Amino acid sequence: MSFRSILFEAIDDSLALITINRPDKLNALTHQVVAELDEAFRRVESAREVRGLIVTGSGEKAFVAGADIGEMAALTPAEAEAFSLKGQRVLRRLETMGKPSVAAINGFALGGGLELAMACTLRVASENAEMGLPEAKLGFLAGYGGTQRLPRLVGRGRAAEMILTGEAATALEAHRIGLVNHVVPQAELLAFSKMLIGKILSNAPLAVGLNMKAIDTGLSCGLEEGLRYEAAAFGLAVATQDCREGLLAFTQKRKPVFQGK
Ligand code: COA
Repeated sequence: MSFRSILFEAIDDSLALITINRPDKLNALTHQVVAELDEAFRRVESAREVRGLIVTGSGEKAFVAGADIGEMAALTPAEAEAFSLKGQRVLRRLETMGKPSVAAINGFALGGGLELAMACTLRVASENAEMGLPEAKLGFLAGYGGTQRLPRLVGRGRAAEMILTGEAATALEAHRIGLVNHVVPQAELLAFSKMLIGKILSNAPLAVGLNMKAIDTGLSCGLEEGLRYEAAAFGLAVATQDCREGLLAFTQKRKPVFQGK
């Protein structure tokens, strides 16, 4: 598949950059964009050398201003359910591929845009960003996981207010409630996002993946199962070469050299 609505680039050997590229439509998510994101996420997942990704929007105004309203208006109920399931699957792949992602939120992140950002591992917003789930104002609800991920990120009460009023939060408010990890000037957004993901990529890749899976497993099940998973993952991590290297490097007062083994 060749990409028409997104840009898929290598920042360097280990880091990919995905840019939703419909700035004249505020990067709204068409079926085509979602299909291209699906393909790009698959490529990141299967490319061994690629260890993380940054997702952003083209232009200075919008990350993604939601699903394409024109396309949505034409959906039958059965098509709408399929549309929701498809988007959920694509974002779940992003969330669970075991490689960290940062949403560099460069402007409006509304509806599907906020849902895309919430499926990323971390979120960095530019000062002009605004984010929310306005679907209730349009007569429906978020269909790409918004009603599930927002309460997990900010708590039930705050999520219910944002979802039920449909009002967007400013970048600073989003930071205050834990929806975004950092707020930076727009000119620094990409550099800051690279620096942030670089800190993760300097750690042992298998350990990063196991930590991500432990977080996800614990949030998807109860405490007992989450603790069980953590113990099993702990055992796996200790069996890796990188763990031996990390412990040895500490005792030798040097930086570890991780191999992803
Ligand atoms: N779907 C399709 N097109 C969209 C869109 C969306 N979700 N969001 C913006 N656009 C289009 C507009 O129709 C407009 O296209 P046009 O120039 O051909 O008329 C273009 O992007 C620019 O948007 P515009 O509304 O003129 O910009 P604005 O600065 O006045 O307002 C927003 C910005 C984000 C407040 C406004 O575009 C908006 O409310 N968008 C919809 C947000 C939404 O409800 N998202 C959830 C959908 S499920």
